[in-house]
Amino acid sequence: MVIQVVTLFPEILAPMLTTSMLRRAQTVAGVEIRLVPLRPFGIGIHHQTDDYPFGGGPGMLLRADVVVPAVEWAMMHHKAVARVIWTSPQGKPLDQALCRTLAQEDHLIIIAGHYEGIDERALEILGGSEVSIGDYVLTGGELPALVLVDAITRLQTGVLGAQGGALTDTFEDGSGGLEGPQYTRPEQYRQWRVPPILLSGNHQAIQAWQRAMSAERTTTRRPDLLDAKRIDDAD
Ligand code: ADE
Repeated sequence: MVIQVVTLFPEILAPMLTTSMLRRAQTVAGVEIRLVPLRPFGIGIHHQTDDYPFGGGPGMLLRADVVVPAVEWAMMHHKAVARVIWTSPQGKPLDQALCRTLAQEDHLIIIAGHYEGIDERALEILGGSEVSIGDYVLTGGELPALVLVDAITRLQTGVLGAQGGALTDTFEDGSGGLEGPQYTRPEQYRQWRVPPILLSGNHQAIQAWQRAMSAERTTTRRPDLLDAKRIDDAD
């Protein structure tokens, strides 16, 4: 899979791409993540990338005649037809199902929006879909782009050490609910003990306990998930 991120600020993303799991994704799992800086596509000797909105309004907009050539350049540099994603608070809310869909693409181009937005013609010319990472507004699309890259690449085979880990995570275990509490060594820390059932070796009992904890946590913390969640009375 090839992911290209078109951004005015590649220096924000670069350190994340060379650290931990995202680095592993590239070295072990064959994910290719490329940054496409917008600045070289800027206009004039100052490489201007933004301008005032016609009709007035606050802030600056990224220019269509900067963004479109940058994305077209990115499209040409990989053979697979690209799916284009725009980060925007106005987009479709990102969830695990959308991450799974995007993880199946061969070629993704993520455009990190900036300033107050992007000239609408860029979206019309290039198509694609807008994605939001939540109902709050950030100063730019670089963090949402990183969120997308991270959530998508961790679904690629070989990125997580133990594949099982990904499948039992909250939102990934098929139940649609939250994952229950987890513990590691030591068995006792200060006066706090690990729940004895987890040390019992009785896998059926442990699974039943984990399902019960998951059901309780989902009920108290995210009742909005209960409709989607497949819990039963036993849980
Ligand atoms: N850009 C600014 N805020 C954003 C958000 N919540 N999601 C995606 N892109 C954004």
